[in-house]
Amino acid sequence: MNILAFESSCDETAVAVVRDGREVLCSFVASQVDLHAVYGGVVPEVASRKHVEAIGPLTRSALEAIGTAPLDAVAATAAPGLIGALLVGVNFAKAFALARGLPFIPVHHIRAHIAGAYLTHPDLTPPFLALVVSGGHTLLMNVRDYTNMDVMGSTVDDAAGESFDKVARVLGLGYPGGPALSRLAERGDNSLYSLPRAMAGQLDMSFSGLKTAVLQQVHNAAQRGSPVDSASMAASFERAVCDTLVVRARQAFDELGAHALVLAGGVAANRSLRAALAAEFGEALRIPLWEYCGDNAAMVGSQAYYEALAGHTASMRCNARATADPSRPWEAL
Ligand code: KG4
Ligand code: ZN
Repeated sequence: MNILAFESSCDETAVAVVRDGREVLCSFVASQVDLHAVYGGVVPEVASRKHVEAIGPLTRSALEAIGTAPLDAVAATAAPGLIGALLVGVNFAKAFALARGLPFIPVHHIRAHIAGAYLTHPDLTPPFLALVVSGGHTLLMNVRDYTNMDVMGSTVDDAAGESFDKVARVLGLGYPGGPALSRLAERGDNSLYSLPRAMAGQLDMSFSGLKTAVLQQVHNAAQRGSPVDSASMAASFERAVCDTLVVRARQAFDELGAHALVLAGGVAANRSLRAALAAEFGEALRIPLWEYCGDNAAMVGSQAYYEALAGHTASMRCNARATADPSRPWEAL
């Protein structure tokens, strides 16, 4: 089954065609990062307009890339995300499906991030534990089956990626801060500054106190007239985030008696986090290829295949949603 998939939940417009959930026939991503960088963050209205401009030409590229290969279904990220941005992908996908007489499959963004690992590891099948770390989410998911999963733990305040972006801003790095902060951290001493590792109840996590602690130390140092060593602050912060994620992942892994841990989401591109989890979980760790960590449509096409097998297609009345529980099937939301 060849699925044409769209992703437009935030600041990347992406179109891909994926065969049987595992084989990427083509994948195109148009990033808007430069456009939003001048504002220090994503401007929703600007994002929507850019999606409208980009989605047509990207779709044309995808159709040219697959040549005469037939399409069997159309999918789009339908939640969660910026509502105006999501609507562009969902409406474009629905119109395409209607015009071609194909089924439409709405996909949850978090489920899609997890599916990025199926594209990279042909032997990976559920059940497994997934740690999804992105700009909007920090979730530990018990993935029982391709379309049946529960949230075991999550952040109670900022997402891990969001805390990277906020601390990067405090340190005067550009937007998006995560990659810049992690590059800076490579030159720093990760034990120079003492920062908190805040856990919330059970398997939950908290990152906003960590951000405040960095802010305070930076301000205090500036008031004393001796600015912090930015690279070492970045490294100390990164280590604190990794420590928290590793501890919680280990707890959830043991609780489940899991055999595999999937690391997914934009922050899965972080080298320190990959190394820390690899040291803890060894061969059990599965990470998507770098190009399937950040937002892309190939991961949407992969998850859509399994949603289609489970009968999760939707009518033309299907709408996008800004928030949605990844453990509920689409029609039950
Ligand atoms: O999954 P994603 O592309 O978009 C969302 O669904 O949110 O994740 C984007 C997030 C941003 O917060 C970005 O700063 C972070 O992932 N990120 C990183 C790295 N690359 C991207 N954070 C830390 N280290 C990185 N190398
Ligand atoms: Zn994402």
